[in-house]
Amino acid sequence: MKKQPFSRRDFLKVAGVTLGASALTCSGLGYAATRTPEFETPELSYAKDNVMNNRILVTYATRAGSTVEVAAAIGESLNKRGFAVDVKPVNEKPKLANYQAVLMGSAVRMGSWLPEAVDFVKTNQQALNKMPVALFTVHLLNTGDDEASRNTRTAYLDIVRPLLNQAEEVYFAGKMDFARLSFLDKFIAGMVKAVEADQRDWDKIRNWAPAIFA
Ligand SMILES: Cc1cc2nc3c(=O)[nH]c(=O)nc-3n(C[C@H](O)[C@H](O)[C@H](O)COP(=O)(O)O)c2cc1C
Repeated sequence: MKKQPFSRRDFLKVAGVTLGASALTCSGLGYAATRTPEFETPELSYAKDNVMNNRILVTYATRAGSTVEVAAAIGESLNKRGFAVDVKPVNEKPKLANYQAVLMGSAVRMGSWLPEAVDFVKTNQQALNKMPVALFTVHLLNTGDDEASRNTRTAYLDIVRPLLNQAEEVYFAGKMDFARLSFLDKFIAGMVKAVEADQRDWDKIRNWAPAIFA
């Protein structure tokens, strides 16, 4: 069996740490503890010109940056297949009006999509349900092909799935880079003995061909 860099049980063990973090937040030290080292969350455009047909939005939520590079690789590869693609962070609240389809992705923290990604789905639910949508998730646990892994990773989207009529889902193994973590996340990673690893499978990411483009 493929060894996980750290286990779900480990994360449960640090639930107490998270509670401690809440106390820390109340004490005013929380901002410093949860502040992530700065990195770019760029807006990228893979379009030869300003074509408005077949224009795709790839939007993403990240904490430590690995999902940015995944989103960019998806954008680049769709562009090679003939689509005009914009890649934008959900935090920029991209408008959906100019797009024919949306690919939306989020990193996973403590068993769920990031809150800003969930908020984006809630805010744009009506529009999203009128257009083709596919979802990509970037995570490190439960990457196996066994049923338990599959069930646990699909649960990462339990909060957004009921909001969408139908959206294809794909799961990509991500990256653990301590230099990109906040003090608190680094502390949690240390507690669960997480190891630094880049498990992103670029062929799988670039070859992802959502059925909505068939
Ligand atoms: C504090 C913390 C909690 C995490 N929780 C989970 C989790 O519950 N499940 C999982 O599969 N991966 C988990 N991960 C791994 C991240 O999802 C993975 O590192 C991902 O690539 C991060 O994406 P980002 O670099 O775009 O933020 C966690 C990582 C950290 C640092």
